[in-house]
This record gives sequence, structure tokens and C-alpha cells, in this order.
Amino acid sequence: MAHPMFRYDEKFGEAIFDYCRERLSLDPVPLDFGSAVDIAGNAIAGLITDSGTPPEEVLEVFRTHLAPAVVSIDSPGFLAFIPNAPTKNSLLFDMVVACSGLNGTSWLESSGVVEAENQALTFLAHSAGLPSGSGGAFVAGGSIGNLSALTVARDVGRARLGDPRAKVRIAISEDAHSSIGKALAILDVEPLEVATDDHRLTRAALEAALAGDPHSESVVAVVATAGTTNAGIVDDLEGLGSYCRAHDLWFHVDGAYGGAAMLSRTHGHLFEGLRHADSFIVDPHKWLFAPLDCCALLYRHPTVARKVLAQQAGYLDVLHETDDEDYDWNPSDFGIHLSRRARGLPFWFSLCTNGVENYRTAVQASLDLARWTAERIANSDHLELVRPVGLSIVLFRRRGWDAARYNEWSRDLLRRQIAFVTPTKWEGETVGRLALLHPDTTEQLIQEILDSMARD
Ligand SMILES: Cc1ncc(COP(=O)(O)O)c(C=O)c1O
Repeated sequence: MAHPMFRYDEKFGEAIFDYCRERLSLDPVPLDFGSAVDIAGNAIAGLITDSGTPPEEVLEVFRTHLAPAVVSIDSPGFLAFIPNAPTKNSLLFDMVVACSGLNGTSWLESSGVVEAENQALTFLAHSAGLPSGSGGAFVAGGSIGNLSALTVARDVGRARLGDPRAKVRIAISEDAHSSIGKALAILDVEPLEVATDDHRLTRAALEAALAGDPHSESVVAVVATAGTTNAGIVDDLEGLGSYCRAHDLWFHVDGAYGGAAMLSRTHGHLFEGLRHADSFIVDPHKWLFAPLDCCALLYRHPTVARKVLAQQAGYLDVLHETDDEDYDWNPSDFGIHLSRRARGLPFWFSLCTNGVENYRTAVQASLDLARWTAERIANSDHLELVRPVGLSIVLFRRRGWDAARYNEWSRDLLRRQIAFVTPTKWEGETVGRLALLHPDTTEQLIQEILDSMARD
């Protein structure tokens, strides 16, 4: 007889499946409120007891009090930060992953998972123009992807300088994502911050920074961004990548948000320089329509990454003691993690079942909508573009508004369940920002948002 916690209660199982069915059938997914709604003071008080609370009761508290206090990141009205728009098939398969307790740590335990995830990683590596033999693993998110890749970059650089403790530096632009600065601080690596014209890191800017630096020999890597978070700018990947190849510098490309646009027919050319990358990240949980949390981390030479990152212990030797390289592919060896959810499978399943062409058109929809939005703003009396649209991010200004007025407007849109749009700072000024990712975000919604700014 199973322990009571491990018995399946069919009736309650149906209640959970009903809840999931209801969520999956929402079209469109409503926004809900996040912290804009008060959670009733004692809503969850007393739920944790010695004998347990009936599951129906806890589910009801979740449904009525907690779920509305989360802005649905998969709503087409979620246009803040970087949204997430998982396909229905990716959500469905995420339930398979959850219900199967699927582990994705090593080849020994999980070759079925690894084989499928590697198929998806190979698709991404191929789309990026990386050579065959490239590979890596799915990790929890872009921040962990960047930290993992930069750990390898640091240690490879130190090895090249012949000193495993050498004080190396990594060149970045001020527009690199906040996780890059955090990763360098964790790794005790100083950044060489390269000054840019108009926020785009170019080969010329890098060369000028290195030429003017008295200790340029300590710079062992360069980080480029393929789609900056604030403005969607794609750095000069071709120029930077070819420079790094010629000068034996590690070239890391952070495409967490924008990397998906390599699939676009109008913007794909911006990503050609990805083929030079030593490491590259792109988040399926952003613009590749998979559920949180999922980052694809790829290396040009995975064996180099494995040497740096694989954890070693007597109880793990069995994972590495194999004569056959092909059968020694442990996702745990390529990132800062060990135990690992099979988090690449929902993306893999969605890619297989929806087909690549659907991915291309879904990515293209947001790029086209961003361009349309920019035209509407350019033709408006009360609004103006702050800068040209970068991929699917639109920065714009409401003439005469200060930070308080933008915040009030943002709160009002959420209160009225129209959209979740948060302002950002651009060169010190508070401005409006739309991050478009969901292919079901409509021109009508954008127009309504822009019109809502007409009033003072
Ligand atoms: C360019 C870029 N890099 C890294 C990240 C961090 O990704 P995550 O939030 O998955 O850790 C983001 C997140 O928005 C991003 O836009």
C-alpha cells in the first residue's frame, strides 16, 4: 500500500486537469493583476497544518486569491520587460514533463531526453550558422546561460595566458544585459566597458577601446548582444566575431531575447556573424514560444566547456567513464547546474509539431507589428519615437509627460485590463516601451494603447 502522499486521488486529479483545460482554452489569455490586486489578508493563513488541508480547498484559494495576483506573461497584452508566449503544444508537453518527473541530467539516466533536446539544440546551432559538432544544454535562463558561458571564457583565457589565476578582463558594452555585469562580478573578472555610438557595439569601437587600453593583453573575451533588452539593438556580430577569430578572443553572443529573429526573412541578415560565436545563448522562453524557464546554451567546442564546467566526484565518475564520446553527452556538464529538469522538451515538442515555418511567421509577426507601431507613432501628434525600432522593441515619448505620469498611465492600463506596459529609462529620461513578442497582439490593441496617451 502506497504512502498516503503517493496515492493518486482520481477525483482531485480531474479537478486539476479541469483547471488546466480551462487555462489552455483561454483565447486570449486575460492579463490579471499582479500586485495591483490585494490578496485578502488571511487568504492563505492556516493552510499549512499537521494533518493537511483538503486539496480542493487549497486549489480554490489558489484560483480565487493567488492566480489573479499574477500578471499572465502569456497574455497578448503583456508588453512589458520581455514577455513569454508559449504555444499550446509546449504547455501541454510541459505537463508531460511534470507528470513524468523527467530528469535531464545525464546520458546514463536520461538518454531519451538528451537525444530529443540535442535535436532542438542542433536546429538552433544550425540556424545560427555554427559548425557541426556545436552543442550544449538547456539551462534555467539567460542569466545562468551567460554565467556558464563566461566561466568557460574566463578559464580558456587564463589558460591561454598560461596562468590559471590570471587577472583577465572581458570587453562588454554598457548596453549588455544586467546579468553580464553580475556574471563578471561573480567571476571576479573586470569588464572593459567599450564606448559605443548610439548604443551598438561595433568592431571599430572595440578596436579603439583596445588600442587606448594600456593592458589590452588582459582582455580575453568579447560579449556581444543580439537584441539588447531595452532597445532591441543587434551589435555588429560580423565585425566583432571576425575580430575575435583573428585575435584568439572568446566571442560570446547573448541572444537571450533577440536571437530568435535569426529565423526572420527581414532581419535574419543581422545575425550572420553568429557563425563566429564560441558561445551563444537564446531563450526559448522568450521569443521561441516555450514556457518558462528555458535557455539554450551552445558552444562551438563543447568539449572545452565540459572541461571547465563538469562536476567531478566519486559518485559522478560513472557518468563520465565511457569510451564512446557520442554516448557521454551529459547536459549537466555544460552549465552551472547538476540535477536538471528536462526543460528543453516543451520547446522540442512544439518545434517538431508546429514546424519551423510557423516559428518563422510567428517571429515575423512581432517584427512587422513593431514597424507598424513605429509608423503610427511617427504620424501621431502627441507621441514621437525615441529611436528607430530595434527588432520588436519600440521606444517612444509622450510629449510633456514626466516619470510619474508614465507610471500612472501604466497602472491605469493594467487596472482596466487593457495591457501591461511599463516605462523604461533611456539616456536618463523616462520613456514608453513596448516589447512585442506574442503573435496574437493586435494592431487594435496597440492603437488603443497609443490613444490612451492622448489625454494629459
Ligand atoms: C539580452 C538578455 N540577456 C539575458 C537576459 C536574462 O535572461 P533570464 O531572465 O532568462 O535570466 C535577458 C532577459 O530579459 C535579456 O534580455
